[in-house]
Amino acid sequence: MAEYKPPTLPSPFTNTTPPPTLLTQGAEAHVYKTASLDPAIPAALKIRPSKPYRHPILDRRLTRQRIIQEARCLFKLIKEGVSVPGVLALDWEGHGGAESGWGGAWLLMEWVEGAVVRVVLERWEAWMKQNEASLNPVQREREEASARALLKRMGATIGALHKAGVIHGDLTTSNLMLRGSPQDNTATTTTENGASMKGDIVLIDFGLASQSVQDEDRAVDLYVLERAIGSTHPRSEPFFDALVQGYRESHRGAPSTLKRLEDVRMRGRKRSMIG
Ligand SMILES: Nc1ncnc2c1ncn2[C@@H]1O[C@H](COP(=O)(O)OP(=O)(O)OP(=O)(O)O)[C@@H](O)[C@H]1O
Ligand SMILES: [Mg+2]
Repeated sequence: MAEYKPPTLPSPFTNTTPPPTLLTQGAEAHVYKTASLDPAIPAALKIRPSKPYRHPILDRRLTRQRIIQEARCLFKLIKEGVSVPGVLALDWEGHGGAESGWGGAWLLMEWVEGAVVRVVLERWEAWMKQNEASLNPVQREREEASARALLKRMGATIGALHKAGVIHGDLTTSNLMLRGSPQDNTATTTTENGASMKGDIVLIDFGLASQSVQDEDRAVDLYVLERAIGSTHPRSEPFFDALVQGYRESHRGAPSTLKRLEDVRMRGRKRSMIG
């Protein structure tokens, strides 16, 4: 099998020291940690490489649209005071030119120091599994309260997003970050884990976002996250009511969205009974 070669970096990032480090490589985008104009300030670089199998004109248009759409969304949300990374720079023209083999588009964002919620919840669930036998009721209560509080803050942040008229379109625990939370397991002790669940929630990845204030769209956004939590974080799923509570308190339209969420759940259950 051919060895995997990441796509060529766009020209402003080919000569930086240290070179950008690849964090994730999805089907559509590659994310690097790099520096901003000030080398002391880290930044996240999201690249949408061009796809060689697509017609070049169509490919350009699609790549360009996605990155502009994502940046526009971030600008709007920052203006509205929603917790998302700031935009530092972007290029949708594929500068770097054909001679460098670069025809994609990129977005340079503020670096969020922290962990994605998926990691935070996985760490918590593993910790609980390992330590729960030795926890007294007070300690156990405290741990569960930390997890609930985290989900409640997630709900409040998603509420602020919806209030701003934006639907995320891909709400999973990988697209929510917890600022300040350690990225590895070092911070947890055998007597307490909850400390690593403190911090502000930051929403990321607006590649599939859209504008809407419809209850249906908002409810589906929440339902997608509920399903994601149910399948990846079974121990945290019972705390989804805390998320709902955070959401309910976030804006005036929330109660009617949550009513709609019950319909969406019902449809989901029917579908899984048939299919
Ligand atoms: N601003 C940021 N600061 C720190 N880490 C980030 C930032 N943006 C993204 N990341 C990290 O990179 C990962 C992937 O980013 P993102 O979710 O935006 O891309 P993706 O899922 O590959 O994109 P898409 O779904 O649009 O194709 C995140 O889960 C997170 O770990
Ligand atoms: Mg993502």
